[in-house]
Amino acid sequence: MSNAPVDTGRRRFLTAATAVVGGAGAVAVAVPFIKSWNPSAKAKAAGAPVEVNISKLEPGQLIRVEWRGKPVWVVRRTEEVLKQLPELDGQLRDPASDELQQPVYAQNGVRSIKPEYFIAVGICTHLGCSPTYLPDSFGEQVEGVSSGFFCPCHGSKFDMAGRVFQGVPAPLNLVIPPHKYLDDVNVIIGVDGETA
Ligand code: FES
Repeated sequence: MSNAPVDTGRRRFLTAATAVVGGAGAVAVAVPFIKSWNPSAKAKAAGAPVEVNISKLEPGQLIRVEWRGKPVWVVRRTEEVLKQLPELDGQLRDPASDELQQPVYAQNGVRSIKPEYFIAVGICTHLGCSPTYLPDSFGEQVEGVSSGFFCPCHGSKFDMAGRVFQGVPAPLNLVIPPHKYLDDVNVIIGVDGETA
């Protein structure tokens, strides 16, 4: 029911309430759920912030929402991914994110407020295609790196912090949108926050 598609790879789909409820009860449960993910068309057109509930996001999963007409990804990174990020610096074009592609509170080694959650605009910095999330098969693109993002248009590659690898057409890391956490399970895209 949600229009936020889930990239699962071999992982399980989100066990959202919408998938398991049925009958009359479904309406009562589903309406607030959908409302929280989808501001009205009018609000969207105006670029309203988008609130995302991340309580059902499992390690390795990605959900996609729309903000200002752009795809925005929210990914829950695994422990293994977080451990590997610093080891990739030597293969990246701008490992420290010196080019300002993120708010100041996300200019750190993991390019996020909370290390576990990565939030980025899902648009390649080359010519604007949307890269594909490869949670398990990125090793076919960069040896020894299991997860990442691959742009099918001209082959740009990004790590799990949206940092671009060397030797590809994309000139910059992926953009991190303004965002802040309302509480442990709700994040709002389009509003600046503080460092957690
Ligand atoms: S648009 Fe992504 S590599 Fe060209």
